[in-house]
Amino acid sequence: MHETRLNLLKALACGAFISGTELGEICGVSRTAIAKHIEGLKELGINVYSVKGKGYKLSSPLSLLDKKDIFKNFDSLQHSLTPSLDLSVLTQIDSTNTYLKQHISQLKSGHSVIAESQTAGRGRHGRKWVSPFASSIYLSMYWRFGTGYQALSGLSLVIGLAVVDTLTQIGILNAQLKWPNDVYVNMQKIAGVLIEVEGAVGDAAHCIIGIGLNVQLPDDIDGIDQSYTDIQSQLGVPLVDRNKLTAILLNNMHRIIRTFEAEGLTPFIHRWESLNVFANKNVKLVTGNQSIEGICLGINTEGALRMQVNDLQQTFHGGEISVRAI
Ligand code: ATP
Ligand code: BTN
Repeated sequence: MHETRLNLLKALACGAFISGTELGEICGVSRTAIAKHIEGLKELGINVYSVKGKGYKLSSPLSLLDKKDIFKNFDSLQHSLTPSLDLSVLTQIDSTNTYLKQHISQLKSGHSVIAESQTAGRGRHGRKWVSPFASSIYLSMYWRFGTGYQALSGLSLVIGLAVVDTLTQIGILNAQLKWPNDVYVNMQKIAGVLIEVEGAVGDAAHCIIGIGLNVQLPDDIDGIDQSYTDIQSQLGVPLVDRNKLTAILLNNMHRIIRTFEAEGLTPFIHRWESLNVFANKNVKLVTGNQSIEGICLGINTEGALRMQVNDLQQTFHGGEISVRAI
């Protein structure tokens, strides 16, 4: 983002009215230039009001990403096993997963990228992930698993647990998981996980682990065709500190990935099943135009979904399958 525009946004982030003259002084430009940059902020999807005689104001305060603040928060957490952070903070990008894929040959395991907004955020099966400015966490981490591709079917499940742990630590105690990649609170989607793997079967697996976690979505949001929620509305607070949140999430990801790398899915199965949003419920599994109905039982050691279908226990492996309530 243009430096003046970023300084302008930082000045407005508190959510108070600030006059054009004062903003001009803060940013070192004229009032007319401020008016132009305000239009630029609006183009990014940021709601800025202007009231004659009062100046400019954001529709609600924003917690902007700040690398130093993320590091400070990370260092204050208990993480004796976690190495220091390796993180890029971006203003706008097509998709943080795509960004890591494009830089994969230069990356070290654990390198992460976080962005204020995504212009082409992706979910599974090429679906769109709605990614407005400063409203969520759009985070991707690169991890190289020496054990190869087959060991990774449970990865999206354990990353879901890292998100639930993070929500628990900030006071949201009722998050649940939907197989294979979604996090729900009060039956509404709050986060999604997108794992992309590069590398042949048997070789090292180069994984891009993407998380979209809604923090304070604007009211006038378009393009989400299911029930959703965000941290701010669940906690009922005016502002969520996204730097602290990012530090907690990164710490949980490091901790959980390291255990998963060493011990696989087994140590996580019981906890995942206790958080299963469809535990013992009737569901349908949808693939293309096929649909199978049954009772959702849980997961196996490979991360496959266990279902009771017509008195028989069956397992279903990820990929194209979606689970839906009936
Ligand atoms: P499944 O993973 O079971 O196939 P899903 O419908 O959740 O189901 P995903 O590909 O996981 O599909 O997620 C993409 C979907 O998530 C989009 O089609 C949209 O409905 C929804 N979505 C997009 N952006 C957001 C967001 N910021 N918050 C919540 N939900 C979103
Ligand atoms: C889903 O529910 O299908 C997964 C959504 C994953 C969204 C995150 S946001 C950060 C990363 N970059 C992307 O383009 N997608 C993931």
